[in-house]
Amino acid sequence: MINMKNVHKAFGPKKVLRGLTLEVPKGTSMVIIGGSGTGKSVALKCVLGLIAPDSGEILVDGKPADSGDRDAFLARFGMLFQGGALFDSLTVWQNVAFRLLRGSLKRPAEEARAIAIEKLRRVGLTPDVADLFPAELSGGMQKRVGLARAIAAEPEIIFFDEPTTGLDPIMAGVINELIREIVVEMGATAMTITHDMSSVRAIADNVAMLHDGVIQWTGPVAQLDNSGDPYLDQFIHGRAEGPIEAVR
Ligand SMILES: Nc1ncnc2c1ncn2[C@@H]1O[C@H](COP(=O)(O)OP(=O)(O)OP(=O)(O)O)[C@@H](O)[C@H]1O
Ligand SMILES: [Mg+2]
Repeated sequence: MINMKNVHKAFGPKKVLRGLTLEVPKGTSMVIIGGSGTGKSVALKCVLGLIAPDSGEILVDGKPADSGDRDAFLARFGMLFQGGALFDSLTVWQNVAFRLLRGSLKRPAEEARAIAIEKLRRVGLTPDVADLFPAELSGGMQKRVGLARAIAAEPEIIFFDEPTTGLDPIMAGVINELIREIVVEMGATAMTITHDMSSVRAIADNVAMLHDGVIQWTGPVAQLDNSGDPYLDQFIHGRAEGPIEAVR
């Protein structure tokens, strides 16, 4: 479903992606791990066409991401942004139903609101938050609203950038389970970025570790603990000593 080949991206002198190659088969869940600032969010944004790569090829369902109708292309995706990125002048339900209130997916406001409330329920929020504004919610609640928005239009492909950061362990478990369910029930293809190793184990079919602008290791989640890769081992065990230089 997603095929990235030898993707390069620099910002000025800073080479972030240096030949990233990654495949995500249809209906599977890929989790990307890697140190802060290694380019995980940049990689997701390249697939969505929010950032243009300098070179390399990105195919979505066999087609180049920058070909054809942009609205139709984006309608296939749901995205949970790392910072939530809720619209602060819209209420919670209007945020969740954003895609359902405009463009090709537009439907009557009452129906959109009902769907929003159902999606809020799925992420553990009660209908009484529907008419609040994002600023009136806790950080964890905002995260869940972002998640409800990502799944509201039942997309084929869903990107989750740090879905559990800032949540308590129980809600993180709920969100992990939800992501797993969506992939299985809807047959969606998912790409998740996380630092949370419990998320990795709960939601990944396959794992890829980004380091130095390339995929350092990739494989099925079952091989995570016996990969024999010193970079991966250092990362998953959170060791300060190892081949990855920690910035002190
Ligand atoms: N639009 C941009 N313009 C300039 N530099 C950028 C831009 N977006 C990202 N970068 C730089 O690219 C690098 C990778 O950023 P990115 O957000 O992908 O990191 P990340 O792996 O997602 O890290 P984290 O785990 O902390 O979220 C950083 O050095 C960042 O400053
Ligand atoms: Mg990031």
